[in-house]
Amino acid sequence: MPSRLVGERTSKSALTAGIVLNTMSAPVFVLDDFNSFQLVNPAAEQFFAASAVSLIGRRISDFLAADSPLLALIDQMRATGSTISEYDVAVDGPRIGPHLVSIDVVPVIEAHGYLTVTLHERSIAEKIDRQLTHRGAARSVTAMASMLAHELKNPLSGIRGAAQLLERDATAPDMALTRLICEETDRIVMLIDRMEMFSDDRPIERRGVNIHQVLEHVRRLAESGFATRRRFLELYDPSLPPVLGNRDLLIQLFLNLVKNAAEATAPGEGTITLSTRYQHGVRLSAPGGGSRVQVPLLVTVEDNGSGIPEHLRPHMFDPFVTIKVGGKGRGLALVAKIVGDHGGVIECTSEPRRTVFSVMLPAATEAGDET
Ligand SMILES: Nc1ncnc2c1ncn2[C@@H]1O[C@H](COP(=O)(O)OP(=O)(O)OP(=O)(O)O)[C@@H](O)[C@H]1O
Ligand SMILES: [Mg+2]
Repeated sequence: MPSRLVGERTSKSALTAGIVLNTMSAPVFVLDDFNSFQLVNPAAEQFFAASAVSLIGRRISDFLAADSPLLALIDQMRATGSTISEYDVAVDGPRIGPHLVSIDVVPVIEAHGYLTVTLHERSIAEKIDRQLTHRGAARSVTAMASMLAHELKNPLSGIRGAAQLLERDATAPDMALTRLICEETDRIVMLIDRMEMFSDDRPIERRGVNIHQVLEHVRRLAESGFATRRRFLELYDPSLPPVLGNRDLLIQLFLNLVKNAAEATAPGEGTITLSTRYQHGVRLSAPGGGSRVQVPLLVTVEDNGSGIPEHLRPHMFDPFVTIKVGGKGRGLALVAKIVGDHGGVIECTSEPRRTVFSVMLPAATEAGDET
């Protein structure tokens, strides 16, 4: 059977069906009675990380783990002869990596033994969902920080002023105490200033930033500080266009992620992998609503550490969530804020020995505009 199986009846309908198939973001493919690919759309090529030319004629089992539930579903469809839909199926393979998908397996009535498979990746809907959740987390930090800053700064300057007045007539031992009051109030004001960063919701200044230089810088800082005796792997796509971002904030963002990765791993055993890749087709509404932006630049920070405890995951981007002795629970809240300010998305998958934070960011054109 040929690869123009879809819409074979007339050339006009073949053209229409082919075009429609190519525009679909869901991977769609047709298998023959040997489970060999006969037709694939571009999304399926991307899913299997192989071109149509190299897929057509090859068996799907070459691309999947031997015990893949997708193969079982295909067998099941052949046995019953009727359509099968299954939700939230884990599909994995050496080339394609782990995916969570919903699957439709439908017999092609007109061609005996042939079937069509459609995969619906959950990730995009989830990305948007999580994006909103994290923006919510960032918003609650924003509101809290601005309220605290406002409420604390005025009385603090009153306390400092009063201590300075007392200092005028103070004896030497009392003076040591008024000094202490002044120093401590200054320290609190400094802390508040730092926290006020959260409440700053002015648009950030952005231009084209070479993300590899940012990651290099972060790695160097980490290696000479909190991440000594951790191995770093860098898997960069050298053709990646610049990020439309703020260099200082991006450094802070990845520094926080790498610090968590280092803290989750043991010295001498920890490996932290930084990678970049271009991925098509992820679009989100820009902060403040309105236009939609593409976030095609994928930067991941992976570690082989303890993994994030299940109970922590729904809240880990909230401020003050920590299980570390001496942790402030500030790192990921700031990460969520910075990613949100860039109009990007962050998501995380975690299991023991493999935790991956994926940050998706918009690209800059040469003129410095969004793509
Ligand atoms: N890569 C990771 N591996 C395992 N757990 C992690 C990882 N990243 C974050 N976590 C968990 O999420 C929690 C929150 O992280 P976050 O960076 O917000 O705070 P923290 O690291 O505890 O404190 P701070 O960053 O303020 O020093 C951490 O306490 C840790 O339990
Ligand atoms: Mg942290």
